[in-house]
Amino acid sequence: MKILVTGGTGYIGSHTVVELQSKGFEVIIVDDLSNSSIDVLDNIAKISGKKPLFEKFSLTDPEKTTAFFKLHNDIRAVIHFAAFKAVGESVEFPLVYYRNNILSLVNILQGMIDNNIRDLVFSSSCTVYGQPDTLPAREDTPVQKAASPYGNTKQICEEIINDTSQSANIHGILLRYFNPIGAHETAFIGELPLGVPNCLMPYITQTAIGKRPFLRVWGDDYDTPDGTAIRDYIHVVDLAKAHVTAVERLTGEKCKKNVEVFNLGTGNGLSVMEVIKSFERTSGLKLNYEIKERRPGDIVKVWADTEFANKELGWKAEKTLDEMTGSAWKWEQALAKRK
Ligand code: WQD
Repeated sequence: MKILVTGGTGYIGSHTVVELQSKGFEVIIVDDLSNSSIDVLDNIAKISGKKPLFEKFSLTDPEKTTAFFKLHNDIRAVIHFAAFKAVGESVEFPLVYYRNNILSLVNILQGMIDNNIRDLVFSSSCTVYGQPDTLPAREDTPVQKAASPYGNTKQICEEIINDTSQSANIHGILLRYFNPIGAHETAFIGELPLGVPNCLMPYITQTAIGKRPFLRVWGDDYDTPDGTAIRDYIHVVDLAKAHVTAVERLTGEKCKKNVEVFNLGTGNGLSVMEVIKSFERTSGLKLNYEIKERRPGDIVKVWADTEFANKELGWKAEKTLDEMTGSAWKWEQALAKRK
């Protein structure tokens, strides 16, 4: 069964390709390599023994997307990761984000409809919840007005999929990720942030490897036990496995609605300080950090209600925080050896 993975050379995409291949799926990746490297294909093959098919183009190009689907008329389902995802950058360049993230989805859906491909897994984000009034966040927790154009593109894309599933034969599973961190245990693939990392985990590992002088902890005066903000960190491999489960649910006719939504988290809220402590435990290093002002736009705390994903989707995160921080550190060290 051939699965199209858009954005498949990216962080979550590459880990999902490895899990798909290990379950016997054939994978074709489309990626414009704007935020990833073509070397990822060989590194995926080092893990799975099979180099995925690959085509490089932007899904914002309708002609190229149409031609792609005509050529590959044996695609059974699509997992759509391809999108820009830096919150701060989306505030600076909103049109770049709306054009890329929304046009790509529209062209993918058109290609699916034109070629009778029904099943779509969409990469969404817990960002859609903003700061929930009640925790843990459930799938029916109200979606709040997005705090960034990036978050808004995720909300708009969810609505586009819902509307399209009413009018065409499209079945969708929307996966709302919490905070993916960590890397594959082989350290052949991992998070490859270009430039200065926005996210916590890569900034910690780059500080520890000596690329950054210290980690800036954005605020320790929040209404939380240790004053630092709380998130639901989830191992990227657990997240990748959920995508395979979602594809099997769709292709196995197990969906109960045309569009289903699942939160992908561990259900455990962890503070910045708890992540730092875990990193120090697993790396054996003392992390250099300084407490700074809060980062504008940050929410205080969010973690997932995992019951629906555990019971209905039949998926549960298994890896611990120490496995997350330990694998992230192993990956950073492997990166340093490559240069
Ligand atoms: C986590 C915590 C920071 C960096 C974002 C996007 C979300 C998703 C994941 C794409 C916060 C603190 C961070 C640093 C810090 N991206 N922090 N120092 O903001 O929860 O989510 O990334 O889908 O859509 O919003 O993740 O890793 O940036 O921050 O103190 O150098 O770590 O303040 O409390 P976030 P993050």
